[in-house]
Parts: sequence; C-alpha cells; structure tokens
Amino acid sequence: MTRKLTFIMTGLLLGISFGAHASPAKDRSALIKHYKQILPDIKFENYIYGALAMNPDAKRQYDDIMSFPPYSMDMDKGQKMWETPFKNGKQFSSCFPDGGKNIAGNYPYFDNAAKRVVTFENAVNACLKKNGEEELKYGESEMGLLTAYARSLSDGMKVNVKVKGSGALAAYEKGKKYYYTRNGQLNFACASCHVENAGKFIRSDQLSMMIGQASHWPEFRGGTDIVTLQKRFIQCEKNMRATTLKPNSEEYNDLEYFLTYMSNGLPMQTPVFRK
Ligand code: HEC
Repeated sequence: MTRKLTFIMTGLLLGISFGAHASPAKDRSALIKHYKQILPDIKFENYIYGALAMNPDAKRQYDDIMSFPPYSMDMDKGQKMWETPFKNGKQFSSCFPDGGKNIAGNYPYFDNAAKRVVTFENAVNACLKKNGEEELKYGESEMGLLTAYARSLSDGMKVNVKVKGSGALAAYEKGKKYYYTRNGQLNFACASCHVENAGKFIRSDQLSMMIGQASHWPEFRGGTDIVTLQKRFIQCEKNMRATTLKPNSEEYNDLEYFLTYMSNGLPMQTPVFRK
C-alpha cells in the first residue's frame, strides 16, 4: 500500500489555493476549473456518479444493478417508517413544507438563531421530538432507512445549499479547513485524495471528485448495507488512520455543509448503490 500511495505524499495539496478572502462561490468555481483540467472528459452533470463517471464498464454494471435495485425492500421499510403515524396521529410529512417533497436539497442550512448547521437528519429528529417521539441515533441504520426514503421525495431537485451571513460563512470555513487539513498517521487530508488525486487509483479504487459526492445519501453498499454520508466520513478517516468523530458532531456537520455546498446545482438522487 505504502508504495502505491507515494504519489499522494509528494503532491502539492493546495494546488488550488484558496485565498484568505475567497468566497464559497469562488471556491466552487476554482474547484470546477481544477476538475476540468485534470478530468477533461467528464461532464459536469456526470459528477454525481463519482468514480463511476471515470469507468464506462463499471457505470454500465451500475446501471444494470439500478434497474432492479437490491435495496428495494429496505426502501419499503423506510417508506413505512415515514408514513406510520406518531402516537399523536401526525406524520413526518406534517413537519415539512409540501409534505417533504423537494426540500432535502436545501439541507444542510445554517440556523442563525441556533448558530449552527442543521442537517436533514437534525430536521428529522426535531420532528420526532416535537411530536413526543424518541429521536433516532445518528449514523445508524434506522436513520439511514428513513432518510433514504425521505430524501428520495426530493429526487431530481438540484442541490441548493446557501451560505449567507457571517455565522454561515464561519461554519463553511470550518468545514473547508477540516477538508484541507492533513490528519492521521498517513498524513492525508480529504483533499489529498478527492481534490488533488481525483481520477487516480488507490489500490483497486478510483478516487471520486469532491463535487457531486454529496447529492445521493445514504448509499447502499455491497447490496443492502446502508451508509449515511457522515458514516462515509468515518470510513475514509479510518483509511487515513485518523481519529474519527461521532456522526452529528459539530465538525462533521460543518464538513457536510461545506461538502454539500460544492454539489450545488447537481440533481439529487437517493439512494444509490455502491460496491
Ligand atoms: C486515502 C484516500 C482518501 C482520503 C484521504 C479520503 N477519502 Fe473519501 N474515499 C476514498 C475512496 C477510495 C473512496 C471510494 C471511491 C470513491 O468514490 O472515491 C472514497 C469515497 C468517499 C465518498 C463517497 C463517494 C461516493 O459517491 O460514494 C465521500 C463522500 C468521501 N470519500 C469523503 C471523504 C472525506 C470527507 C474525507 C476526509 C475526511 C475523505 N473522503 C478522505 C479515499 C479517500
């Protein structure tokens, strides 16, 4: 493994350097430019396929699998959770505009009153609490199943994360800093793999680009193993031999905010299958 990773260790991490006064919009266009340079054949709308967009054979296999998704029974479970009335007779749909349709792409957002990032999972738990129900555990499969179904009500909606105001900008900057900071025994940052070396192989995996990574969560991996976005952060940090945090920690929520902003303009599709 060590030899194969040499390219990463020698690369210049901040090839696309962000100035002190960079704005989220400028950060995003700098990134798009960077990916166009290193992966000129991949169209922007195909960024949602991540590494699959780089490999037509794998993409064909994926399309076959997606025509009869192995997780359809799990989606039924998620739907049942979403539609089963609470003890007070209300349903999840009562907590969201338009019954929860075409809203997931607005998350995460920055709540100025609470001074923190609110993820879609936070909104689901706030709904449970408001209705006197027990909250779900972050990162666990029940939350995964419920949000897989709930987010699918926003399929096709374009990711539309807003960063406005000083609190929002500070949370975005924290997420960005986390993404670009080297960490763990291997001394990688998220950006070492997904920005600088996107398209290259690490063992048998081709590295996806950051843009497009946030539009399709949770994922079913290897069939029916459900993985939330923040669970995926943990998996990557384990590979980095870095300390991992808990799902719904402030750091991960800020990271998710930054990461999702970068997928703005791309259509949501939930869930998807990954090997
Ligand atoms: C050592 C390289 C490496 C580092 C560092 C790394 N990842 Fe990954 N990551 C991977 C590989 C390999 C995959 C699976 C192939 C792919 O989709 O890129 C992956 C997949 C992902 C995915 C899922 C993409 C999808 O569409 O399924 C996300 C999201 C992600 N990484 C985020 C992060 C974040 C956030 C960090 C930093 C905390 C990080 N990664 C650090 C190697 C890395």
